[in-house]
Amino acid sequence: MSAPGVALVTGACSGIGLELARGLAERGHPLVLVSDRAGPLAAAAAELAARVPTHAIPLDLARPDAAEVLEREVAALGLEVEVLVSNAGFFLHGEVADADPARAQALLQLHVVTPSLLARRFGRRMRERRRGHLLFVSSISAWNDFPGIALYASSKAYLKHFAAALRSELEVWGVNVTVVAPGATATGLYDPREVDLDLARRVGVMGGPEPVARAALEAMFARRALVIPGLVSRLLAWAMWLTPRWVIGLLRRRAPWLGHP
Ligand SMILES: NC(=O)c1ccc[n+]([C@@H]2O[C@H](COP(=O)([O-])OP(=O)(O)OC[C@H]3O[C@@H](n4cnc5c(N)ncnc54)[C@H](OP(=O)(O)O)[C@@H]3O)[C@@H](O)[C@H]2O)c1
Repeated sequence: MSAPGVALVTGACSGIGLELARGLAERGHPLVLVSDRAGPLAAAAAELAARVPTHAIPLDLARPDAAEVLEREVAALGLEVEVLVSNAGFFLHGEVADADPARAQALLQLHVVTPSLLARRFGRRMRERRRGHLLFVSSISAWNDFPGIALYASSKAYLKHFAAALRSELEVWGVNVTVVAPGATATGLYDPREVDLDLARRVGVMGGPEPVARAALEAMFARRALVIPGLVSRLLAWAMWLTPRWVIGLLRRRAPWLGHP
């Protein structure tokens, strides 16, 4: 059996991405870690370098040319990526008409454009080599269309559909594509002024990022199409999927966190 290949993880300095990087390091994969903030990224890289060869690339993945820049930086390191994890993201809530246009654009670049173009660039090399894995981090919010999270949830729905179609293109070439759709997970995704993460974990509303990453990697290496980690999240996704339009309409009319005429 050949040695584990290089794994590139976006959004690797915290939360689910850091746990995914730790899990990949445990399996012996050399790492390329990519995140926006150089300081936390260097700290994550220092921790993981004790286990496997690790490179850190600080990069704003919401830049329109992010995929191209990243491919160039990886090529300059002389590395061939065997596992591509598109995980970087941020949360945005509120009505679309109230969204800061720059934040909305960054979200769409980060969640839609960059993962798609990274898949184009690194997936092509994987297809040539007849091996590799692409893991996309979606969300259970992709299971229906709720007001107040339109940009976030729709971008995650895009990733879910994109990955499913990409899977059917690439699997005949020996390349695997997996989607992980986490439910609410206690990470830096949430503003601590709005969400008490410790309390949410204590009462069981949120889980930690470790089991999410573990389930994601198990599913990816088992070449499964989709995993929703945790029974509660699976039930929630199912309930969201079944929610009829009239209930969503009622929610829209009553929700105190949305504007009213
Ligand atoms: N937590 C949840 O409840 C939950 C549920 C479903 C799905 N997810 C998804 O899981 C993924 C990871 O989120 P998380 O919960 O682990 O939150 P997190 O701890 O805030 O991690 C987000 C990661 O994305 C990186 N990132 C954000 N903007 C970036 C940019 N412009 N360029 C490069 N990197 C950027 C962050 O790096 P910097 O700090 O350096 O910017 C950070 O490493 C996201 O895609 C999120 O949507 C999370």
